[in-house]
Amino acid sequence: MSDTKHSSFSQAQRPGKGENEITRRDFLSEITLGALGIAGLGSVAVTYQFFSPNVLFEPSPTFRAGNPDLYPVHSVSFLQDQQVYIVRTPEGFYAVSAVCTHLGCVTQWKPDAEMIACPCHGSKFKSDGTKIEGPAPRPLPHFAISLTADGELLVDKLQNINPAQVLKV
Ligand code: FES
Repeated sequence: MSDTKHSSFSQAQRPGKGENEITRRDFLSEITLGALGIAGLGSVAVTYQFFSPNVLFEPSPTFRAGNPDLYPVHSVSFLQDQQVYIVRTPEGFYAVSAVCTHLGCVTQWKPDAEMIACPCHGSKFKSDGTKIEGPAPRPLPHFAISLTADGELLVDKLQNINPAQVLKV
């Protein structure tokens, strides 16, 4: 008889328990739901990453370098985005790679010394890419350079050319 009376109390009706008090069962279900939610979001993120293409966005290897008048005669201009030097001599234009042939550091044009220097291991090159000194095994390559139909310089980094070739404008 007394068992029946005792069991008729629900958890919330027990003496000393407020209506807003969380029971252990509620607490555990909320923790479980939270953990399942986090795990679900994690698996969605991993699945999305798995199916999204692993692509590196790099600038196009063929690019316009602007109007020839932008480059004075006897100038070496570094195009940082493309890592290329546009060199203009009285004979014409050529495009030289700014990437060192030793271990791939980006070189710097030193106007005072009139040479291209690699900051990593000290290789030095003339403005036409010829190696002066240092561990670089090869000169800096020349890229194909031409004029577009509307008169801008066009450089193709996929095409190495003979350094003796210059674009006469
Ligand atoms: S990377 Fe240029 S000298 Fe080593």
